[in-house]
Amino acid sequence: AITRNFSSSAPQIAIKTVTVVGGGLMGSGIAQVAAQAGQNVTLVDLRPELLDKAQKSIQNNLTRVGKKMYKDDASKVEHFVNDSFNRIKVSTQIEDGVNADLIIEAIVEKLDVKQELFNKLDQLAPEHTILATNTSSISINEIGAGIKRKDRYGGLHFFNPVPVMRLLEVIKGEGISDSTYQTMMEWGKSIGKTCITCKDTPGFVVNRLLGPYSAEALRMYERGDASKEDIDIGMKLGGGYPMGPFELADYTGLDTNKFALQVMYEKTENPVFKPIPLLNRMVAEGKLGIKTGEGFYKYK
Ligand code: CAA
Ligand code: NAD
Repeated sequence: AITRNFSSSAPQIAIKTVTVVGGGLMGSGIAQVAAQAGQNVTLVDLRPELLDKAQKSIQNNLTRVGKKMYKDDASKVEHFVNDSFNRIKVSTQIEDGVNADLIIEAIVEKLDVKQELFNKLDQLAPEHTILATNTSSISINEIGAGIKRKDRYGGLHFFNPVPVMRLLEVIKGEGISDSTYQTMMEWGKSIGKTCITCKDTPGFVVNRLLGPYSAEALRMYERGDASKEDIDIGMKLGGGYPMGPFELADYTGLDTNKFALQVMYEKTENPVFKPIPLLNRMVAEGKLGIKTGEGFYKYK
């Protein structure tokens, strides 16, 4: 549906239907916040068991949100949860999700796999559909290199946990039109996020700044300057962060951390992003953080 014109020539569309491809940690959160805001959502993943897992986690997190909104009113909570949950259809077939106003990709962080998906989406989706990637460290221009609709493409970078973190980074690709950019900003607001804008640069705003912070914390610990526990306490009580750098690394995943640093180092050659032997060793040993039961701390 066409609602209003912004400064550019192309009309801006109101997003009513959203498809999220990839039903993991981020994709399930994105599906949840869109459904909570009254939008119809299709969540696509390759494996049915991952869709089951996503649905369970969405139901739990909706209940958390509902309890916060409606306190002790159990029937209102139940109504909110069911209403939002029922707006999310799930499928293992991408074809079931292409008829949407906005398609957000939240699959594995691999350039070639993302490119293949976008090329397919570009062919299958209707003319007006906007395509977006939630990549945390890959260049969005590289991901979208093969698509034709470069004016209807950009980055929508969410933060973990999606239902709680209030920020959305809107990343401008080289061909993005004014109306697509405005639609993305409006959509972010419609799901309750505060949007900031960044060019397609390594790490965008938040990861570009979190990278050197987290890398220096690791080096500090590696050098034996302070214990990881004390560094964490220091940044929580002295820096005002909700988690210390080691707790955050375990939460985000050490593999994700390593990959993000690697990409930023390759693209910027800034020595602050240089590989960190301790991080590489832990990733090689499979100590990836909360998801494997052990990272800098143990979780079993
Ligand atoms: N869904 C819904 N609500 C959730 C939730 C979820 N998945 N996880 C936590 N919450 C809610 C809780 O219900 C709770 O609500 P109330 O305060 O109203 O009771 C609130 O969030 C706080 O949760 P907890 O009490 O369980 O725990 P906490 O106080 O330790 O907070 C946290 C948890 C929100 C994760 C907080 O520690 C935090 O903000 N940590 C930093 C996270 C961060 O920096 N994320 C960004 C990482 S970088 C990134 O994501 C980008 C990338 O590309 C890698
Ligand atoms: P995840 O591993 O939890 O989920 C990825 C999901 O995508 C899996 O369920 C997998 O089955 C599915 N998948 C893989 N290839 C697919 C395909 N071709 N079609 C459909 N589904 C497919 O990963 P995640 O942590 O949710 O990350 C997803 C994306 O979000 C990545 O690009 C990551 O960089 C980005 N991101 C992650 C975080 C974070 O903190 N984890 C934060 C911001 C952005």
